[in-house]
Amino acid sequence: MGLFSKDIKTMDDLFLHGLKDIYYAENQITKALPKMIDKATNRDLTKGLKDHLDETKNQIARLDQVFQKLGEEPKGVQCPAIDGLIKEGDEIAGEVADKEVLDAAIVGAAQSVEHYEIARYGTLIAWAEALGRDDVVRLLTTNLNEEKAADKKLSTVAVRKGVNRKAAS
Ligand SMILES: [Fe+2]
Repeated sequence: MGLFSKDIKTMDDLFLHGLKDIYYAENQITKALPKMIDKATNRDLTKGLKDHLDETKNQIARLDQVFQKLGEEPKGVQCPAIDGLIKEGDEIAGEVADKEVLDAAIVGAAQSVEHYEIARYGTLIAWAEALGRDDVVRLLTTNLNEEKAADKKLSTVAVRKGVNRKAAS
């Protein structure tokens, strides 16, 4: 998409662009998660991240189905927002020496990614509903619910499972 070519003309175009954006984001996340898993030490955290890596692969498969239902080729478009979130997480992790503080930093970075995805899926679902595409709303809602659950699990790991407390002690 060119900056001056105005390639997005209709709501359908806008929706398709949003889908390509989240498709790119999910694919970048599958590359970023293994690095976060390697850096994390808390067992609940590594397990949560591993589970979410598996979920993310299923989410990509669901997005493939969405593209298919729309008669479009599954394709990503570069999303500077997710690139920035992942880069920031990497940079912070690179600056943390203490393992327990690093775990807290990883939870924070992962939650910022989840919140981004929650925002994007929420918008895509609203657009799909406006376009009368109930067939894809269901698939996108499944992804949204998984992101919300992943975010909640990260909060549990940080607060109830002691990641933040250990980092602070
Ligand atoms: Fe995701």
